Amino acid sequence: MGLQLPKHPAQPLAGASALVTGGASGIGQAVALALAAAGARVHVADLADGGGRATAAVTGGLALPTDVTDPRAVEAAVDAVVAADGVIDVLVNNAGTCDNTASLEVLDEEWRRVFALNVDAVFWGCRAAGRHMVARGSGAIVNTASMSARIVNRPLPQASYNASKAAVVQLTRSLAAEWAPHGVRVNSVSPGYTATPMTRAALADEGLRRTWESHTPMGRVARPEEVAAAVVHLAGPASSFTTGTDLLVDGGYTAW
Ligand SMILES: NC(=O)c1ccc[n+]([C@@H]2O[C@H](COP(=O)([O-])OP(=O)(O)OC[C@H]3O[C@@H](n4cnc5c(N)ncnc54)[C@H](O)[C@@H]3O)[C@@H](O)[C@H]2O)c1
Repeated sequence: MGLQLPKHPAQPLAGASALVTGGASGIGQAVALALAAAGARVHVADLADGGGRATAAVTGGLALPTDVTDPRAVEAAVDAVVAADGVIDVLVNNAGTCDNTASLEVLDEEWRRVFALNVDAVFWGCRAAGRHMVARGSGAIVNTASMSARIVNRPLPQASYNASKAAVVQLTRSLAAEWAPHGVRVNSVSPGYTATPMTRAALADEGLRRTWESHTPMGRVARPEEVAAAVVHLAGPASSFTTGTDLLVDGGYTAW
């Protein structure tokens, strides 16, 4: 038999059940839409907007009002997905926050707030979905880290954010190794500066925007859809031998 072109399905996630945290806004919303375009039924867990009702209305899933820093609430959201679809195939732990405070001024509760959302909640999500996925022998988890896991953002002081995202990358690698024998893949994406509500005020500052752009080889910030495309890749069958990796989507920022 001669060589044949590989077949790439137009909807690689057709029939899959997915849950996206922080899907009411920014990168999470773009991820939810992109997963749905790839064929998945996408459920949204978010604090805001009645749990991402506007997003879920388009992606065909449930809007689940959830504070992901509460481990019981996260378990309830995952259970709701499994009750609705019988399975959970994809989890994207995306909700996150940032604090730009000089380290000597950081309050105890502000440090804990950042870690509760950026690190603890990622683990609560992985553990809750992982229970179902490991029992079933398949699943894909994608965590939203950041290029701040590897670089220190200039000129903003954000030690808690940078440390929290480094923790996400190493948590991802640890769970990937632990669950690989059970057919569950765990990866992360690390966006560079991306135009979302999180960065709206910063990007409105002309000087800061120019600084960020000039530190990026591609000379611009990302659109949320560009990050979402990487998440779809890591969630789907095209990355079937990829686990424990961190995919940078940073316009080359970390190459300099
Ligand atoms: N925007 C960037 O430049 C950038 C760069 C690198 C990484 N990231 C990461 O991407 C992720 C998404 O960021 P974004 O820029 O889209 O931010 P965003 O502020 O637009 O969206 C964050 C979403 O998380 C939700 N959320 C916040 N706290 C929550 C909680 N306790 N429970 C449930 N949902 C909660 C918010 O309601 C919101 O919908 C974050 O993890 C962020 O750290 C963003």
